[in-house]
Amino acid sequence: MNTEQLIRTFVEYYEDHGHRRITGSTLLPPPGDPVLFTTSGMHPLTPYLEGRPHPLGRRLVNVQRCLRTTDLDEVGDSTHLTVFEMLGTWSLGDYEGPQSLDWGYRLLTEGLGVDPGLLHTTVFGGDDQVGPDVSSLRLWQERGVPVEETVEDNWWSNGPVGPCGPDSEIFLWTGDTPPRSTPTRDDRWVEVWNHVMMRHRRLDDGSLVPLPQRNVDTGLGLERLASLLQGRPSVFECDVFEPWRRLVPALWPLDEPSLRLVCDHLRSAVVVVGDGVRPANTGQGYVLRRLLRRVLTVLWREDPSRGLGDLPGELVSHTLGHFRQGGTEPVRRLLLEEERRFRRLLERGRKVLARPRFRGPLGEEDFHYLHDTHGLPRELVTSLREE
Ligand code: SER
Repeated sequence: MNTEQLIRTFVEYYEDHGHRRITGSTLLPPPGDPVLFTTSGMHPLTPYLEGRPHPLGRRLVNVQRCLRTTDLDEVGDSTHLTVFEMLGTWSLGDYEGPQSLDWGYRLLTEGLGVDPGLLHTTVFGGDDQVGPDVSSLRLWQERGVPVEETVEDNWWSNGPVGPCGPDSEIFLWTGDTPPRSTPTRDDRWVEVWNHVMMRHRRLDDGSLVPLPQRNVDTGLGLERLASLLQGRPSVFECDVFEPWRRLVPALWPLDEPSLRLVCDHLRSAVVVVGDGVRPANTGQGYVLRRLLRRVLTVLWREDPSRGLGDLPGELVSHTLGHFRQGGTEPVRRLLLEEERRFRRLLERGRKVLARPRFRGPLGEEDFHYLHDTHGLPRELVTSLREE
């Protein structure tokens, strides 16, 4: 099943259960949201989780592009991407958690053919503010699915304040042996679907108050589930990356970890630019800049003559088309301009760092000077000194 079929199966299943499909938003969260980028399908829905009536009703389903920088250093393993799509469902004060988990279980096993024997779940075990999630625990026990109880791992929040709640996560076994152990003890259990009982709001002082309604917010990583259903060893081998894996190695021979990083970061950068972000030294623009600099650092490590001018237009247009964004040529021009800027910065950096003053160990004052006077960020200085 490719990702398009997976999306269709998911959306139709929930439409059959009374959900209305809403259009996904861009990667840029609504004003006032505490994060730089949309990291989950619930961001654009925050006002409705807090009680405002949604024009399409109380049961919603969608596909939302997300970007997670917290996982940047995990990119390259088999399950993490910087930009990914999340299939999401919401009960806005309508049905409760066990109903959501039951539909999730049925869709995975009956609709998508996952072997029930390969599933494990986790539920919130309770802390000093909120009691254990007994109804989710009971549901899983009734379905005969193994459950593990945790505390921090089963509490979901968008930021330090705002809507939050206990969650129940569904894991799929990816090992070569029959399933063993539990999700917190064996990482061959891969999380595929999170169901959050979004009923609380955390205030500035850390206390919790009930939201005006009891919601359920669920999110399932599209590329991750697709790669598992397709029997692929990593997200980089699911159909989304087909053109990347076909064209990039022919252009730049790279080892597998570098290939994954280059494909992930370039694809993410294209989507971020497609959503209107421009490179900058702070905020969203700095995330974009870091993604591109990481790509260029990997490419130039082996061959400084490599450049983004060689990037096949098909990869840019395929990515923009997938996310319904436009403007292949302006995106390519922007990537090239950023590459030129980085080359100039590196040249300047090498010259400055060759001065006798910077030959020995650097102190905080040196880092400040290099940053403020020469525009050289700390991580760039560190990597130039390692050359
Ligand atoms: N908000 C939850 C998550 O991101 C469920 O969608 O995991």
